[in-house]
Amino acid sequence: MKVLVIGGAGYIGSHVVKELLDRGAQAVVYDDLSSGHKINLFPGAGFVEGDILDYPKLKTAMEDGIDAVVYLAAKKAVGESMENPELYAENNLIGAVNVLNAMAKSNVKALVFSSSAAVYGMPEYWPIDEEHPLNPISFYGFTKVEMERLMEWYDRLRGIKYTALRYFNAAGYDAGGAIKGRDRNPQNLLPIIREVVDGKRECLQIFGNDYETRDGTCVRDYVHVSDLAAAHVLAINRLLEGKPSAVFNLGTTNGVTVQEVAAATEKVTGKPLPVRYAPRRPGDPAVLVASNRKAETELGWKPVYTSIEDIVRTELA
Ligand code: UFG
Repeated sequence: MKVLVIGGAGYIGSHVVKELLDRGAQAVVYDDLSSGHKINLFPGAGFVEGDILDYPKLKTAMEDGIDAVVYLAAKKAVGESMENPELYAENNLIGAVNVLNAMAKSNVKALVFSSSAAVYGMPEYWPIDEEHPLNPISFYGFTKVEMERLMEWYDRLRGIKYTALRYFNAAGYDAGGAIKGRDRNPQNLLPIIREVVDGKRECLQIFGNDYETRDGTCVRDYVHVSDLAAAHVLAINRLLEGKPSAVFNLGTTNGVTVQEVAAATEKVTGKPLPVRYAPRRPGDPAVLVASNRKAETELGWKPVYTSIEDIVRTELA
């Protein structure tokens, strides 16, 4: 099995490539290294340096005996997507069309796509299952919904089978330290905590402590990146077995508050973590927790990491 991993030098992509190689598959990384890192490329994987907006190059990469595509490359900062929608339209929407058109032209029929819990917007109930209405409140989330819709049509009209994986809060790093390149300008909670622990930031700002949750801070479902990577390989195998297109939530069903993440960090480091309470961040739902029942029953996926302390430990290592 030969898999083209678009965005394979990035945070989740590099873990997916590792998992593919560990399972004996062949992987070719397609990445423009705009946010991914050269250091994340594994010697056992092929590499094409290219942009998803470079359609001819993408199509050529697809024609190299590829059985399945994992498409991760995208802009992913929610706040930035509201300030610069043009950038997100170009990368996430034009990029998505390029991937689908290149697959249609090259006759590659299996696609695993990085979607997000951002497709749901403000949750109407939780745990959130895949039937929850799609109501994105960010341009980023909108781009993910649009790609899911495009994939439905390319399935119908071009027979491309897809799996959309709706990640909840991806966190942590490979426990064996295989991934060396970290996100530049991190915007998410755990990488920010790492910067505080490393002394690169004075303190963690906790955005809001007046939510209706057990300690007033937001509840999220942190899912370990190696568990996410395993789900991609299961999804590819499932598609190549001839199963139909599907959408899966990837989370642990465990809700953890920001304050609990801070406490877990203190346990791991044995030192106090300086925090400061700040106003709520616009657009943050109080609670975002997945139901992962469908992924468990139909994909055979079960997250290994269920404790936030274990996840934080891999983030800080
Ligand atoms: N937080 C802080 N301080 C920080 C950073 C984050 O208190 O410095 C809090 C946030 O308010 C939130 C939690 O930590 O309650 C997690 O925040 P992240 O920014 O790490 O993640 P989000 O839950 O906002 O975002 C995630 C994914 C997005 C996805 C979104 C869906 O990273 O890709 O869920 O709502 F779109």
